[in-house]
Amino acid sequence: MYEHFIEANRHAWNLRVETHKSSEFYDVEGWKNGKTSLNDIELRELGDVAGKKLLHLQCHFGQDTLSWARLGARVTGCDLSDKSIEYARELARECGLNARFVCCNVYDLPQRLKGKFDIVFTSYGVIGWLPDLNPWAAVIAHFLKKGGVFYMAEFHPVIWMFDDKMERFKYPYHNAGVIETEQAGTYADRYADLEYKEFGWNHSLGEVINSLLRHGLRLEFLNEFPYSPYDCFDKTVRGADGNYRIQGLEDVIPMMYSLRAVKP
Ligand SMILES: C[S@@+](CC[C@H](N)C(=O)[O-])C[C@H]1O[C@@H](n2cnc3c(N)ncnc32)[C@H](O)[C@@H]1O
Repeated sequence: MYEHFIEANRHAWNLRVETHKSSEFYDVEGWKNGKTSLNDIELRELGDVAGKKLLHLQCHFGQDTLSWARLGARVTGCDLSDKSIEYARELARECGLNARFVCCNVYDLPQRLKGKFDIVFTSYGVIGWLPDLNPWAAVIAHFLKKGGVFYMAEFHPVIWMFDDKMERFKYPYHNAGVIETEQAGTYADRYADLEYKEFGWNHSLGEVINSLLRHGLRLEFLNEFPYSPYDCFDKTVRGADGNYRIQGLEDVIPMMYSLRAVKP
């Protein structure tokens, strides 16, 4: 039922990869020289990953996955985009990091991957590509060991209500069905010569939390932040803390949240 949207999104993500590889946003050279791509929030809130089996859902080209590997995690990443997974494998080889990468729709992962994990991780710009969070939460519950931790850091649903210029509300807070957009460029390079169509879905905090509770996870915390660690929206200003806020809405709206849940 959603195949057409998922295929279009795969194409859109494949198109973005070449630009992302050489973008300042992803700073692959800095990362190859040892810089982590992870932010203070997830590093602090997820804590020590050394020796833990970690599954990264929607890992893009694996920078964050491999950053966790550098911290001692035994990592597996999954992504829909074959160009992303190709490059993730190349980065792992080049940097001598142990990692496994699986290319598929996250909903299909239980048919493609065996094993249980201490940690399931996903972050920044992920759930908006998924039409329904129930099968997503089922995948998370499926792969977690008993006592295992699910951690996510994600842009806040309030941010996705705005138009591209961050000037007015354009989209509903709740999941009211598919949102089709014609895109030019990409968040990592707004002026890149790329044009494509993509399909997304907005998910309220209630929808996220209830999908996880429904699949037996126990929520440990939900934190909301009035800033983004990434400069990927229009009209941002950088604060003294190095984070980004929307001009005129500084510390007025939430921009991201993080959540930690355990499988009892
Ligand atoms: C914003 S990126 C990932 C975020 C990561 N923070 C980053 O910037 O590297 C979103 C990723 O989700 C992937 N994706 C989109 N829909 C997916 C699906 N149905 N199953 C698996 N991956 C999906 C895309 O291919 C893309 O690599």
